[in-house]
Amino acid sequence: MKVLNYGSLNLDLVYHMEHFIRPGETFGATRLDKFPGGKGLNQSIALARAGARVYHAGNVGPDGEVLVETLRNAGVDTNLIRRVEEVTGHAVIQVDSRGDNSIILYAGANARVTSDQIDRVLEEFARGDYLILQNEINLVGEIMDKAFDKGMTIVLNPSPMNEEIRKLPLEKVSIFLLNEIEGEELTGKREPEDILDELLARYPRARVVLTLGGKGSVYGDGEERIQQDIYKVEAVDTTAAGDTFTGYFISTLIRTGSCREALDMAARASALAVSRQGAAPSIPALEEVRAAAGDIQEM
Ligand code: RIB
Repeated sequence: MKVLNYGSLNLDLVYHMEHFIRPGETFGATRLDKFPGGKGLNQSIALARAGARVYHAGNVGPDGEVLVETLRNAGVDTNLIRRVEEVTGHAVIQVDSRGDNSIILYAGANARVTSDQIDRVLEEFARGDYLILQNEINLVGEIMDKAFDKGMTIVLNPSPMNEEIRKLPLEKVSIFLLNEIEGEELTGKREPEDILDELLARYPRARVVLTLGGKGSVYGDGEERIQQDIYKVEAVDTTAAGDTFTGYFISTLIRTGSCREALDMAARASALAVSRQGAAPSIPALEEVRAAAGDIQEM
């Protein structure tokens, strides 16, 4: 079975700040790092590092070859990435002294997906293959419609959350992975159990994974609920923790069929990502996640 991730590729400019910049303030960063990133790219790397056979589709500009190379080096098939005459997507990220982040996104080439491109990409996939989507490229709804007609299994990480998400054919999604804030915006509910109830009432054939920051994560479908604690680490940089969680959850689910095991691996992998700097470079390899089992503590 193949996994297609149709998603963003970004150059991340990471500014380390004592505190996030306030309106009208001029304040110096203590350090600047440049990393490969983008929710799409990060999730492809996490999927591949967790053992899935991943194909990444998306767009880069002339300045984006480093991103293609990063994916290729992680074992991701990059033949479906298109070169366009547009600046590559990028993110300006502030990381504060607690490891929290705040992100400005510029879509650039990520917003240049076309209908013809979608048709050509989907020709390579068949019924039963997985499609992973986030919300950092254009035409997400069209990709969902066409992939659904082919019988692909659609996984949606509705991030970053905005009005576009509500216009998507969400009834075609098989697996939602989202955080508490996204869940609240989508359902109007605040409590995790209520968010799950509401999403499963609206989309009864879906499976939902809700991440709850320091409180772990919960899984729900029509039959069961599973709670997963976090593994405790010292937070250095939370960027891509959610992407790591998504990639490890889906890859482990495909490999083992067990949601419980997928949640546990995703929790371990995202803890390791939080303890390291950067987006893509912070995503651990499968051996590291397995080896770290004794070093990180469930809370
Ligand atoms: O989820 C983290 C990612 O969000 C960063 O790599 C940045 O590029 C933004 O897309």
